[in-house]
Amino acid sequence: MTITGPTTTTGTFEDVVRRRLSRRDLFRVGVVVGGGAVVAGAAGPALARPGHGGGPGGGPGGGPAAHAFDLTTWTAAQPTAPAPFDAPVIAPEFTHDVVIRWGDPLRPGRAPFDVTALTAAEQAERFGFNADYTAWFPRRRGDTGPRAGTEGLLWVNHEYTDPVMMLPGYVEGSPTREQVDIELAAHGGSLVRVRQERDGSWRYEPHRDNVRITATTPMQLTGPAAGHPLLRTSADPTGTRVLGMLNNCGGGVTPWGTLLTCEENVDQYFANRSTVTDARQQASLTRFGVPEGASERRWEAHHPRFDLAQEPNEVNRFGWVVEIDPYDPRATPRKRTALGRFKHEAAAGTTTADGRYAVYSGDDSRFEHVFKFVTRDRVSPSARRNRDLLDAGTLYAARFDDDGSGVWLPLVHGQGPLTPENGWADQAEVLLYAREAASALGATPMDRPEDIEPNPVTGSVYVALTNNSRRTETDAANPRPGNATGHVLEIVEAGSDAGATTFAWGILLLAGDATDGAVYGGFTPDQVSELACPDNLAVDSLGQLWIATDGAPSAFRGRPTAMNDAVLGLPVVGSGRGRTQQIFGAVYGAEMTGVFFNTTETTMFASVQHPGEGGTLAEPTSNWPDGGTSVPRSAVVAIRRR
Ligand code: FEO
Ligand code: CA
Ligand code: CA
Repeated sequence: MTITGPTTTTGTFEDVVRRRLSRRDLFRVGVVVGGGAVVAGAAGPALARPGHGGGPGGGPGGGPAAHAFDLTTWTAAQPTAPAPFDAPVIAPEFTHDVVIRWGDPLRPGRAPFDVTALTAAEQAERFGFNADYTAWFPRRRGDTGPRAGTEGLLWVNHEYTDPVMMLPGYVEGSPTREQVDIELAAHGGSLVRVRQERDGSWRYEPHRDNVRITATTPMQLTGPAAGHPLLRTSADPTGTRVLGMLNNCGGGVTPWGTLLTCEENVDQYFANRSTVTDARQQASLTRFGVPEGASERRWEAHHPRFDLAQEPNEVNRFGWVVEIDPYDPRATPRKRTALGRFKHEAAAGTTTADGRYAVYSGDDSRFEHVFKFVTRDRVSPSARRNRDLLDAGTLYAARFDDDGSGVWLPLVHGQGPLTPENGWADQAEVLLYAREAASALGATPMDRPEDIEPNPVTGSVYVALTNNSRRTETDAANPRPGNATGHVLEIVEAGSDAGATTFAWGILLLAGDATDGAVYGGFTPDQVSELACPDNLAVDSLGQLWIATDGAPSAFRGRPTAMNDAVLGLPVVGSGRGRTQQIFGAVYGAEMTGVFFNTTETTMFASVQHPGEGGTLAEPTSNWPDGGTSVPRSAVVAIRRR
């Protein structure tokens, strides 16, 4: 495909970046656009960015140390085995450790995992199912010393459960109460102590202070929608207290050292949409995909809160961004309603030019929207003072115009079409029905917006659009009909300010078969690692972009060489812009998620999610990571230089 116009060509878009970045920005971050070099400068943001901050540290003699993941210093992994193949592939300069996997005990002195002995009480103190987003925190808030690279607190989301792969004797359509309770306990997230040994390998430490958060952990709803009648239930007449979080997919880390974890596909947990009589709620639940009758999981058989016939508002308490303080694990997690309710993939942010905080979030469904939330107040140097920062601000949805410009449309009650005359009673309704509000404003329907990640080095923001098989009418931002392999957009905010309400945008890459329509910069098929279905993103302190994929095996099915999902890196500026390099390939049936670096960026953590998907406990299609005839177990890997 020939890429034309201001929205697409590599050189042209670099010119846009160059124009948008002020001289001051260029000096501050040491960016050389188009010159092949990107160097992170010493001047950082006022607050260290946990997990991304600090860079690789000083080298001998005070010069910059080589960055372990510098794309110019290693060779791409080769995904060449015939399908199905069930061993990870890794770039030859790197090695990996399996750090923690489903069922591993978080407390000391517990028995090793035994799938036949799992109870709900046991699962609540063991690593959950389907590891997703990971986030690294140094043991002490803000620590950037040498120990911050080798001893940390690792957060891991547990997105969802697959009962046929985890529960012996599971009968689809009629789970026992204990089986459902195991599933509830396998959701949520884990916060575990991890450590790098002298030989370089990583392991987790069972510890009484490791944390499990599940689908029954008490949480607080905060912000403009908290307490609204549509959030009240018989168990919680205040509309402010909710049990648990569900389908936590991606996330983000704030400059004040807290974690944002995002509820995504929450529709699958609720049953009996047909009983809902309110027309707007019926339409919203239909758009979310809540089943008309029984849910596939049948949790409603044992927990009435998942039955809309009995609790029509419980579903409104899911689909939010949850903030958790890893340094105060007893504090109640808070669902921040100001950021809107939709299928949040993730929530990564950056500070605005005037010191407020902007959080980007994709709504991962076909034809849904890209969002940004900007706080009302500035980020304080005191973590305490930022405690409720995310409760006040403006939520925007993106309109991508065909000329390569764009507008952030505010979801503010009383403005534009969001008025009482049009049926919008208050701001709580605007946030609760954020999808419908964004559509009313004219936001662009996208090809499944997944992770969105600002690049602190270049000032650009990257948007993963994973695929959209149902697209027929194209536009410049979603240019392929039946988009099977996805693409990545680049946004440059006006004035390079995340608080801006307009932006320029372009297409960084069109994923897929490099011999058939995909575009990886100007590179030829033999010069790149192909990818399909970009999902999670990360950016390192060199400004390199990292992409984890979900869907490559089916997108590339029928080709002579098979490909499992993978993690790839690419430069986004300079002559290498768009040249992808695979660093790690997953095992059979798995997607890759959750790329995150330790403070010193010597190690990349990532999750191998749902290895052996499609199999069952009785007939597994993967035996990773334990081999032999063992059951597959989703796990976090640590990738490091040999
Ligand atoms: Fe949970 Fe959109 O991936
Ligand atoms: Ca994802
Ligand atoms: Ca995904």
